[in-house]
Amino acid sequence: MSEQDDIIPRAGVIGWPVAHSRSPRLHGFWLRQYGLNGRYDKLPVPPEELEAFLQALPKEPGFRGINVTLPHKMAVLPHLATIDPTARRIGAVNTIVVQPDGSLHGSNTDAFGFIENLKAQAPSNWSAAAGPAVLLGAGGAARAIIVALLDAAAPALRLINRSRGKAEALAAEFGPRLEVIDWERRAEALGGAGLLVNTTSLGMSGQPPLEIALDDLPRNALVNDIVYSPLETDLLARARARGNPAVDGLGMLLHQGRPGFEAWFGVAPEVTPALRAAILAD
Ligand code: ATR
Repeated sequence: MSEQDDIIPRAGVIGWPVAHSRSPRLHGFWLRQYGLNGRYDKLPVPPEELEAFLQALPKEPGFRGINVTLPHKMAVLPHLATIDPTARRIGAVNTIVVQPDGSLHGSNTDAFGFIENLKAQAPSNWSAAAGPAVLLGAGGAARAIIVALLDAAAPALRLINRSRGKAEALAAEFGPRLEVIDWERRAEALGGAGLLVNTTSLGMSGQPPLEIALDDLPRNALVNDIVYSPLETDLLARARARGNPAVDGLGMLLHQGRPGFEAWFGVAPEVTPALRAAILAD
């Protein structure tokens, strides 16, 4: 056996702090499910060590790449040899793959994860192209979701954020399909919508609830919350109670992990009920 054969393929997630990350459980589940000899670790990297860490990464035996979480998702960009166009538009990288020549390639799989989650859980006749989308929030998650919905041919995006200026900046950047509506008018903005997405932290355990009257939302509009702790948020429960199809946010986390796992470990992994249960049991 050559020395190469002894090297276990490795990946991990960098963040600061990184203790809360669910990615090790996600990738660990897939490694076991597919019987692969591989490792995926939590890698605490403080901001001042980021550049040195990325320089050293290709020299680590077996290291195939990493996921990137807060606060490094934007900071990694200047240190990568190539960045895919979707990640550039989102302005953040969450997946890095070490190329055969040792250079680092960055991508962002959050937009993919968002759309794949809707495809997997929404009614089969639902389409992003069928009606305007209403987005609550204008943070990092909103950027990925805007890119996803523009690429999925959503005809219009209504952006609603407590700080209106942030929504205006996104509208200026992403173009004429985006419209900014005041936070105080969020309930009225639901008229005629085909999709409502909460990208704010409201409704998360320990955060204030998301207050929004759903009366104007068409009954066939899909409702998605990117908050997944709790899994069934008050928004999703209220949407289901009035007959709207609703999709929880856990799937976005699970689906965003697929492209990285495939690139690092060579198997295209599936999101299954058993995987969902394992992550929720965490
Ligand atoms: P992420 O990167 O996960 O999207 P973020 O950038 O911190 O997180 O964004 C959090 C979002 O939740 C923002 O849109 C924020 O609104 P502001 O831009 O006005 O801060 C929104 N948010 C957080 N707390 C809120 C609250 N109490 N009321 C309304 N919106 C809130």
